[in-house]
Amino acid sequence: MLLEAFWPMILLANCPVNSKQRIAMNSTQNPAYEKIDSLWINVHLSTMTQSGPYGMIENGALAVSGQKIAWIGKRHEIPRAVESNAVEIYDGDSGWITPGLIDCHTHLVYGGSRAREFELRLQGATYEEIARQGGGIRSTVAATREADDESLFKQSALRLASLLQEGVTTVEIKSGYGLDLETELRMLRVARQLGERYPVTVVPTFLGAHALPPEYEGQSDRYIDFVCNEVMPQVAAQQLAIAVDAFCESIGFTPEQTERVFKTAKNFGLAIKLHAEQLSDLQGAALAARYGALSADHLEYASEEGVKAMADSGTVAVLLPGAFYFLRETRVPPIDLLRRYEVPIALSTDSNPGSSPTESLLLMLNMACTLFRLTPEEALAGITRNGAKALGLHNTIGTLEQGKDADFVIWNISEPAELAYRIGSNPLRHAIKKGKLIRTLDT
Ligand code: NIG
Ligand code: FE
Repeated sequence: MLLEAFWPMILLANCPVNSKQRIAMNSTQNPAYEKIDSLWINVHLSTMTQSGPYGMIENGALAVSGQKIAWIGKRHEIPRAVESNAVEIYDGDSGWITPGLIDCHTHLVYGGSRAREFELRLQGATYEEIARQGGGIRSTVAATREADDESLFKQSALRLASLLQEGVTTVEIKSGYGLDLETELRMLRVARQLGERYPVTVVPTFLGAHALPPEYEGQSDRYIDFVCNEVMPQVAAQQLAIAVDAFCESIGFTPEQTERVFKTAKNFGLAIKLHAEQLSDLQGAALAARYGALSADHLEYASEEGVKAMADSGTVAVLLPGAFYFLRETRVPPIDLLRRYEVPIALSTDSNPGSSPTESLLLMLNMACTLFRLTPEEALAGITRNGAKALGLHNTIGTLEQGKDADFVIWNISEPAELAYRIGSNPLRHAIKKGKLIRTLDT
């Protein structure tokens, strides 16, 4: 069915590239090394652990057993058992391996486009003016409600395919363009299906408090009642989301309304995230931190109190340079404060039709460096180690370490900073998801 139409974009390779077939030999020193499915040699590694810049291991090797990394280290230190038991040995041709990329904040599932709104903004209208006049998020809500399941899946799958082509192996996807019971649940189901049909982990987030739907005009408190009492219980009962998010902003919801959403989320055992301080300072970051949020996102207007509260609660700062760029914002997030208080910084596409119509996470690396002055290393940590943290998945993904998921990418680059340095190019050579080679671009 539909799925087949998309497979050519993601080449499912089940044979090794540049590899020598090896017959497993009888080696028994360490039971952990008895079953080595693949061994990558002639590679350099950006493990993104915090040991030295990029967690670099030059002239390294990486061994996979099942879905996990079985061994990682210097080429000349590979245990004999690992090498002799390896069923496949892959030559990485001096490429660099990084963890699979993590896009920790997207609105990938939606109907329609907002190109017309882009034209209006170029003629002088602001994002807020368009939203207040019933355009903006509401226009995507209308298009999403109208789209049937198949078309919603198809439009979203095309966007997902672009992310995967750049080495994304985990993606968070929010609801928030339905704003009624049926469409919110439908969006989350489509997100789940994407994860079932593509080689990617999908982390679904319920964003019912994204905007006020037209049928609740002038009744935002009643809408929050509806989100908390009617939609969230269904989302939780059907296990359709892992986290809950809200848009705390003058054109979104007040801190009081946001707090009601958080309280309900806590009662359902759902994690918390927040669109905070994108256009003004409502002290959403501190509110999110009080509720132990995984992340507070955007943060252009975050104050020192907000940053300090995030540091105390271990809340990740998710920066979204695509939205900053596309809305032609001028206020840069408080990077120096985030550094000073050691708040982990993640980066994401914020892929959405209104403020960040992009499906390129690599482009975000460059934008974060040029617009926000992150270092290339901070930027790469933002889409690996700290992206994992923003999703609460740092124990299984985000760095290359023994025992973690074998999600990684082999790049045709000569040093890790090249990933952030290039604009609009894709040096991906191979992508591996849970030990399986899912995409290969051989030159
Ligand atoms: O993250 N800020 C709210 N949500 C999105 C924009 C959604 C839209 O404009 O459609 C964001 O920027
Ligand atoms: Fe967003």
